[in-house]
Amino acid sequence: MQTTMTDPNIKWQDITINNHQRAEQKKQTPCTLWFTGLSGAGKSTIANLVEQALYLRGHHSFLLDGDNVRHGLNQDLGFSDTDRIENVRRVGEISKLFNQSGLIVLSAFISPFRSERELVRQLHKEHHFIEVFVDTPLKDCEQRDPKGLYKKARSGEIKNFTGIDSDYEAPLNPEIHLCPGSLNAKQCAQVVIDYLIKHQFLK
Ligand code: PPS
Repeated sequence: MQTTMTDPNIKWQDITINNHQRAEQKKQTPCTLWFTGLSGAGKSTIANLVEQALYLRGHHSFLLDGDNVRHGLNQDLGFSDTDRIENVRRVGEISKLFNQSGLIVLSAFISPFRSERELVRQLHKEHHFIEVFVDTPLKDCEQRDPKGLYKKARSGEIKNFTGIDSDYEAPLNPEIHLCPGSLNAKQCAQVVIDYLIKHQFLK
């Protein structure tokens, strides 16, 4: 939860061009697709395929990925609960800003806690927030172990690893529930595209 209040001496600055105008110019309905799931679940792979499909259809998007954002803006954060909460809060705010700029945002973060994902949803209350649960079971993620991180977590080389010694709270009611165990990554991406078409985000 965000605990700090904005300083009363900081006033809101009005800006002439509004969010609606920015979106109109891009001829699209902005939204945030929020991919959540365990490490190695396939979040980045699927989000990447969705973004490629959006690009080919002429849409304007931006993909925020956990590993990448932690190379820059969030390089000061680790994997304690407190740091993950701050990580998700910052990315939620960035996703909202990118929404306001008229983009379709794809955010791929473990984002393990329901309360923080709910906070990001609230941040988007004047926009569109679509939670995408990439539901790959822990045993499958660990078997794949694409970066060798589960092995390090099991040996104790990495602490606070999601699913091993750090919690993951699965979404209770996601807008999109993907099961990469029964669909391949391309099929999962198509489910997301179909959702966007059905709900008229894509014309
Ligand atoms: S979080 O929980 O939302 O703050 O995590 P996120 O910013 O998405 O970063 C997840 C990526 O960091 C790598 N990594 C770890 N993940 C989980 N726990 C620990 N301790 C950890 N240490 C490093 C890992 O590559 C994650 O990437 P994905 O794509 O999820 O596998």
